[in-house]
Amino acid sequence: MNAPNQSGWKPSMQAVDASGDMVTTTGNRALMLEEPLIFEIGHAETTGVDLPEIDASAPNRMGGFDRAEPIGLVGLTEPETVRHYTRLSRQNYGIDLGFFPLGSCTMKHNPRLNEKMARLPGFADIHPLAPQSTVQGALEVIDQLATWLKTLTGMPAVAMSPKAGAHGELCGILAIRAAHTAAGNPREVVLVPESAHGTNPATAAFAGYKVDNIPATPEGRVDVEALIERLGPDVAAVMITNPNTCGLFEKDFRTIADAVHEVGGYVYCDGANFNAIVGRVRPGDLGVDAMHINLHKTFSTPHGGGGPGSGPVVFSEALAPFAPLPFIRKDEDGVYEIVEEESREESRGQTFGRMTAFHGQMGMFTRALTYMLSHGADGLKQVSEDAVLNANYILRSLEDLLHAPYADSGPCMHEALFGDKDFGNGLTTLDLAKAMIDEGYHPMTMYFPLVVHGAMLVEPTETESKAALDQFIEAFRSVATRALAGDESMKEAPYYAPRRRLDETQAARKPVLTWEPQEAS
Ligand SMILES: Cc1ncc(COP(=O)(O)O)c(C=O)c1O
Repeated sequence: MNAPNQSGWKPSMQAVDASGDMVTTTGNRALMLEEPLIFEIGHAETTGVDLPEIDASAPNRMGGFDRAEPIGLVGLTEPETVRHYTRLSRQNYGIDLGFFPLGSCTMKHNPRLNEKMARLPGFADIHPLAPQSTVQGALEVIDQLATWLKTLTGMPAVAMSPKAGAHGELCGILAIRAAHTAAGNPREVVLVPESAHGTNPATAAFAGYKVDNIPATPEGRVDVEALIERLGPDVAAVMITNPNTCGLFEKDFRTIADAVHEVGGYVYCDGANFNAIVGRVRPGDLGVDAMHINLHKTFSTPHGGGGPGSGPVVFSEALAPFAPLPFIRKDEDGVYEIVEEESREESRGQTFGRMTAFHGQMGMFTRALTYMLSHGADGLKQVSEDAVLNANYILRSLEDLLHAPYADSGPCMHEALFGDKDFGNGLTTLDLAKAMIDEGYHPMTMYFPLVVHGAMLVEPTETESKAALDQFIEAFRSVATRALAGDESMKEAPYYAPRRRLDETQAARKPVLTWEPQEAS
């Protein structure tokens, strides 16, 4: 594999900065390890463990099912086996390996304490159908977590069962639909601003609503006038992501909510970005009727970082009766129970049904509650302040070089947004992202949000130190400088990754996995 040299960029720890000087970069050059299959490094004739000789005189108790021939499993020693799998694991990039700047994903460090708690047998090994008297501790965890969520959001009710952010959105919209239906008309339209997350219009359409788009202002926020203009008796709800996907706080949220309520509609808030405001803003005070919270973002455990997600939905008084079953209730004797039936006295009333077979993701509940208890209320406020501080540090450190479309709209929230304006030689955001892999970084979120050409969305989260941010900024500046200068060599990046340019769409949807045995020598 030849590294490029025609542009002056060399495969070393040196790169060119904006003034054309050589500077030292991270030194990370991604992972170059190729790893054969275990069948290629081991041999069927060897074994990694010493087994006692078979006693030929012992009775054969296989009843005629003995193997007629060996099955071809290879034998490796313990270190060979460990190294094989460790080398394989190093072909992947993870939050434990380095900074993961994916915007909108909140890839923050997952404290080991959370994992330790989630793996306690009393949480990890229980069954959803276990008698409730035997899982009182687990039910208490769910109830305590529900109390934290209601308190932090200023909302009176919560459904814990949804299993991801998008699942939570569906839960909220189904409750809204049930409320309108109970009032005699489910209505037809859900308004979704351009600055909303893509799952919002998908959810509304999935729930049977027509989706009407509301434009964004030049400063990257909902066009309030356009939204109010569109309101009417056909509008079931508005779905607003706050902070929005441009990384900005929707400061007119209360005005919007009041206007929506005036026409009898409900306000759905996509609260997946709660990490930026937790402890500082209570969505209940902004007029929200339903909001999902991505436990797997705000309260640690990044996307894909240790199991399934969890997207509890908080509800206003108006929507609480329509929330799904089940929920946890504590009786006067302090005994917890799972309320499963609508007809029960304790039920909320007009539930729309259920989102899941059981009560939700126990592992995520345990991790999130651990995160909350280990930070405390003040600590959670600090979390959001530090996340916002880190994002603004990145924004202000790069805005002189890269197009930052909303840099003048005030401080950003938890993520910094850049565009590909002025890239030379037809270079694109994709080329820059691939070049970041050569710098040893997972790329940022690309081409999202759609409102910005060639968008690059960077979310540092609160868990990155200033030193880590400085190192990232230096690498980012280096590749951005090359992109602006039109460095052709970037079109073939990455040079230092186990695989280079895969088909961006088909590689994920229709992977072609092949293995060809080596020729026998
Ligand atoms: C703003 C926003 N809304 C909704 C979602 C969907 O969440 P999930 O991936 O858990 O379904 C995400 C995911 O990151 C998000 O960032």
